[in-house]
Amino acid sequence: MNSQAHTPAASRKFKILVARAIFPEALAQLEESYEVQSNQSDKILTAEELKKALSEVDGALVAGSERIDAAALSDAKNLKVVANISVGYNNLDVPAITAAGVMATNTPDVLTDTTADFGFALLMATARRMTESEHWVRSGKWDQWSIVNNPLGMDLHHSTIGIIGMGRIGQGIAKRALGFGMKVVYHNRSHLSDADEKSCGATYVSKEELLRTADHVVLVLPYTAQNHHTIGAPELALMKTTATLINIARGGIVDDGALAQALQGGRIFAAGLDVFEGEPQVHPELLKCKNIVLAPHIASATEKTRRAMVDLAVENLRAALDGKRPPSLINTELLTTEN
Ligand code: DGY
Repeated sequence: MNSQAHTPAASRKFKILVARAIFPEALAQLEESYEVQSNQSDKILTAEELKKALSEVDGALVAGSERIDAAALSDAKNLKVVANISVGYNNLDVPAITAAGVMATNTPDVLTDTTADFGFALLMATARRMTESEHWVRSGKWDQWSIVNNPLGMDLHHSTIGIIGMGRIGQGIAKRALGFGMKVVYHNRSHLSDADEKSCGATYVSKEELLRTADHVVLVLPYTAQNHHTIGAPELALMKTTATLINIARGGIVDDGALAQALQGGRIFAAGLDVFEGEPQVHPELLKCKNIVLAPHIASATEKTRRAMVDLAVENLRAALDGKRPPSLINTELLTTEN
């Protein structure tokens, strides 16, 4: 761990940064143990503000909005831990954090079911044109029941779902799909164990085969440089014209401009997006599409789960500051090489 120029901390209260608004009770508990610098205004810190705040603390609770890299850490002489309140950690430059001797943690498991529920909800809303239908009702233009002249959707039951990224959340979606009698195919960096494939009823296929055969494509893979634009114009061209595409992974996994063109040109049937390139900005051409369901990055957003995410991040932070191994340490090599 960061041993250079550390201020001896045993004799003083640790200082921590809480970079985004959290639940008041969680903040109050932290204030009992630490000297807390908190940003309850929830206004995202600028890179300069973040760097300055990190230079003054021993630990930090951050979220996807905080980019933690070598520049952010350059003055962080006492920092021991960066606890991300998020399972995805593409905001963390892990090699740079490790090089600075700082522990990095995330919040896996506690959000798996909530996020899988939301992925399935978004898929259902998209395939059955729910927001488009709601807009129609609200507009007052719906004037009669009709056999054909109303939003006709695509079935989920007994269709094929293709899941790209078969970690915990992908597997959660697969298990939900089984309840709808869906055939489940998946593509992932690695094959699941036989037992996991069996419990998900899932068959591994190439990305091309998945795109050609799935009625519904769901993206749940982490964002990395290699995964940038996993779905762009060439991939959309492989999909069925009747297919839906759901992105609950990260902005940048889909080329949003190419997706808007595909939706406008009827290349695919519909899309459901919880994440966007450059969010909270949304590609203006996507906003013009009717055949899309849009959500503001809320897949893990239930009160119970957000509290559990904060609690796990706090547990990680406390463990690190107590000199213990945090339960969801990302850069495990930091402890391995030292112990
Ligand atoms: C996660 O936990 O990764 C969610 O997407 C929130 O950032």
